[in-house]
This record gives sequence, structure tokens and C-alpha cells, in this order.
Amino acid sequence: MSVFKDAGHLLRFAGLFVLAFLVFLVVRGYVVPKSFGQYGHYRGNAIGEIAAHPIQYAGHQACETCHADVLDVKKNGKHAHVNCEACHGALAKHADDPSTVKPVLPDTAALCARCHTASAAKPKGFPQVVPAEHSNGMPCETCHQPHSPGMDAPATAVGGAK
Ligand code: HEC
Ligand code: HEC
Ligand code: HEC
Ligand code: HEC
Repeated sequence: MSVFKDAGHLLRFAGLFVLAFLVFLVVRGYVVPKSFGQYGHYRGNAIGEIAAHPIQYAGHQACETCHADVLDVKKNGKHAHVNCEACHGALAKHADDPSTVKPVLPDTAALCARCHTASAAKPKGFPQVVPAEHSNGMPCETCHQPHSPGMDAPATAVGGAK
């Protein structure tokens, strides 16, 4: 059978291929974490590991139980739907133990600019200013109350007047 006369090099190559595949299987056995595929195409243990991280954010309900006065100011203002911790940062430790962990008040120059600096990428309707021109270097809270930043008194702001 002259067709298979020179098949030796093909068989050696096939053997090499099988060997490489076995090496791959062994390496894979060591490298792939045990819980991989437990629930899907990911590490099953990852769920427990993430759940075990300490909680950083208390959530706005927690803040509101102790700071009802702030909520009263905020709920009818333009920041009604901005979460406390979006401005004050993660404060779970403070909420757990308010007498020992006292939050640092945010610096409005950086804080307000983060959301309100004019940018073409923001939706047209979103209130935006060029801070340097708008405030003339004055702190934002000179004119805006952070918890109810509209320029009208909170009572008239009900109903969404400018
Ligand atoms: C269990 C009650 C409690 C909870 C919950 C709580 N606070 Fe407080 N918070 C206090 C008390 C009491 C003080 C005053 C601490 C002091 O003066 O030593 C305070 C102080 C603060 C201050 C500083 C005020 C200042 O004049 O310096 C900020 C800001 C603040 N809280 C924000 C928050 C936010 C945001 C949350 C939600 C993540 C929150 N707090 C949750 C009780 C609470
Ligand atoms: C839009 C950003 C923003 C949001 C949202 C916000 N705060 Fe504040 N808050 C500030 C800033 C800025 C100050 C500091 C004002 C200053 O330095 O005069 C402040 C001050 C405070 C103070 C100190 C006392 C006072 O009234 O000035 C407390 C307490 C407080 N915030 C709690 C809260 C709680 C509770 C919530 C949620 C119900 C909340 N804040 C939501 C920006 C915010
Ligand atoms: C986390 C983002 C965020 C931060 C930080 C923030 N704001 Fe706002 N602000 C908003 C949103 C959201 C609205 C509501 C926009 C709307 O109604 O479409 C708003 C509305 C306003 C308005 C009302 C504009 C109008 O329509 O009359 C003013 C003024 C304002 N913010 C000033 C401030 C000032 C001053 C600070 C700093 C103390 C600040 N904001 C911090 C998100 C933010
Ligand atoms: C000297 C007072 C003053 C200071 C300081 C000031 N503002 Fe204002 N701001 C105003 C007035 C007045 C308006 C209302 C203008 C209007 O309705 O057209 C306003 C409106 C706004 C609006 C709404 C713009 C819109 O298109 O609806 C935003 C956002 C705002 N200010 C953010 C800020 C931020 C951020 C700072 C700090 C960098 C700041 N302001 C500092 C007086 C001030």
C-alpha cells in the first residue's frame, strides 16, 4: 500500500497532538478553581466571597431615621432623588456608631462640580454650569442650600417650580 508508505511522520505528529492535549487536561485540572461551573460559567465561591465584604453604604433609609430634619429640607427640593451617600460618601460605619465615627462635611467646590460641570456629554435638560464663571470663586453653598439647591424657597419648590 504505497499510500501509507510515508505515514510515519503523520503518526508521530498525531501522537504529539494527543500528548499536548493530555498535558492541557492536567494543567487545566490544577488551574481551574474547584467551584468553577458549580452554578454557571463562573466560580461558585465568588458569590460567598463578595457577600462577605463588609458593607460600606448604609442606604438612605438609615440616614433618614436619624436626620429627619435633613430629609424634610431635601424631599421637596431639586435634590430629592439624590441619595445622601452620593454626596456624603459611604457612611455605614457612621450609621452604626454615630458618636465615634463623625463624617467630614463634603467640600462643595469639588462635590457640586462633579455632577454639575457643563459637558457636552450630559443630557441637555440636566442643570449644568461652568463653575468658575457661575460662582466667581465663591463656595456653592453661599447661594445654594446643598439639600435643596433650587433658588426659590423650599415651600414654593413643591410641584417643581424652578
Ligand atoms: C443612628 C443615628 C444616625 C444615623 C443612622 C446616621 N447619622 Fe449622621 N449623625 C448622627 C449624629 C448623632 C450626629 C452628630 C455627631 C456629632 O456631632 O458628634 C451625626 C452627624 C452627621 C454628619 C455631620 C454633621 C456635622 O455637623 O458635622 C453628617 C454629614 C451625617 N451625620 C450624615 C449622615 C448620613 C449621610 C447618614 C446615612 C448614611 C447618617 N448620617 C446616618 C446620627 C446618625
Ligand atoms: C447634593 C449633595 C448632598 C446630598 C444629596 C445630601 N447632602 Fe448633606 N450635605 C451636603 C453638603 C455639601 C453639606 C455641607 C454644607 C456646608 O458645608 O455648609 C451637607 C451637610 C450635611 C449635614 C450637616 C448639617 C447641615 O444640615 O448642614 C448633615 C447632618 C447632612 N448633610 C446629612 C445628610 C443626609 C441625612 C442626607 C440624605 C437625606 C444628605 N445629607 C444628602 C451635601 C449633600
Ligand atoms: C450626585 C450628583 C449631584 C451632586 C453631587 C450635586 N447635584 Fe445638584 N442636582 C443633581 C440632580 C440629579 C439634580 C436634578 C436635575 C433635574 O431635576 O433634572 C440636581 C439639581 C440641582 C439644582 C437645580 C437646578 C434647577 O433646575 O433649578 C441646583 C441649583 C443644583 N443641583 C446645585 C447643586 C449644588 C450647589 C451642589 C453641591 C452642594 C450639587 N448640586 C451637587 C445631582 C447632583
Ligand atoms: C453668587 C451666588 C451663587 C453661587 C456662589 C453659585 N450659584 Fe448656582 N445659581 C445661582 C443662581 C441665582 C441661579 C439661578 C439662575 C437661573 O435660574 O438661571 C443658579 C443656578 C444654578 C444651577 C442651575 C442651572 C440651570 O441651568 O438650571 C446650577 C446647576 C448651579 N447653580 C450650580 C452651582 C454650583 C455647582 C456652584 C458652585 C461652583 C454654584 N452654583 C454657585 C447663584 C449662585
